[in-house]
Amino acid sequence: MPKLSELKWALVTGASSGIGREFALELARRNLNVVLVGRDIFALSKLAEEIHGLSSSKVIFIQADLVKDISYVLENTSSLRIDLLINNAGLGLYGEFLSHQWDEYANIIDLNVKVLTQLTHHYLKEMLHRGRGGIINVASVAGFFPIPKFAVYASTKAYVYNFSLALWAELRDKNIHVLCVAPGKTRTKFFERAKMRTDYKMMEPRDVVIGALKTFEAGKPLYIPGAGNKLTYVVIRRIFRDDTIAKVLKKFF
Ligand SMILES: NC(=O)c1ccc[n+]([C@@H]2O[C@H](COP(=O)([O-])OP(=O)(O)OC[C@H]3O[C@@H](n4cnc5c(N)ncnc54)[C@H](OP(=O)(O)O)[C@@H]3O)[C@@H](O)[C@H]2O)c1
Repeated sequence: MPKLSELKWALVTGASSGIGREFALELARRNLNVVLVGRDIFALSKLAEEIHGLSSSKVIFIQADLVKDISYVLENTSSLRIDLLINNAGLGLYGEFLSHQWDEYANIIDLNVKVLTQLTHHYLKEMLHRGRGGIINVASVAGFFPIPKFAVYASTKAYVYNFSLALWAELRDKNIHVLCVAPGKTRTKFFERAKMRTDYKMMEPRDVVIGALKTFEAGKPLYIPGAGNKLTYVVIRRIFRDDTIAKVLKKFF
């Protein structure tokens, strides 16, 4: 099991806001060097300055749309030893399936599934070569259920969940730890971007990240932040059939 203190560079996708931003800050506080990736250059440079103020960690930020420019990110990190990959960048979109254009769904599937898988494929090779590393994939409690009006997003997160746990089992005796983080509602820009209401009780992104890093260090494969989210996962998932869950969730979403 790799310890965070043994890891040199972490690459965080979607570091410009929300959960990704908190990952970058917490990892820098633990003395890892960080590569920040996102599209919003102002938010990335502001975060880099903030990190310089609180830690002696090195920081590099790369402005890139991961759906369009993933090779730019790979080229610009080729000289770094990326020991920890945080696949956090992700988007959702709320509404009946046909109420949105295909291009919007294609972008979500590319970002949530293809980019996450390609980055893992790329950086894992180097981690295996060095015999040490970690990958933290941000899924969602939505990925445990078939959710009407959130069908594409929930399905991409089901992929992230299954992909992460399968890789965890493949790599657990190779000193590479894979953790799947499945947050519930968390106070970030996610809901505004997904065109969803935000009048619920939410967790703070920093709490999600602190719990995730603790779970990573404990060597566990899955972290569901918040007692209510854990209970939802255990009770609904284990007791009800999937078609019943889909029908009931249609009333809530
Ligand atoms: N908030 C929740 O309730 C919740 C619950 C469960 C799971 N999650 C998951 O948590 C992860 C982080 O989301 P968040 O809640 O922190 O929302 P957020 O504040 O909207 O952050 C999303 C991040 O993804 C980045 N991003 C989006 N498209 C990108 C692209 N094409 N290329 C590069 N970066 C891109 C954004 O950066 P730029 O805009 O700078 O590109 C931003 O930094 C997502 O995977 C989300 O599905 C969130």
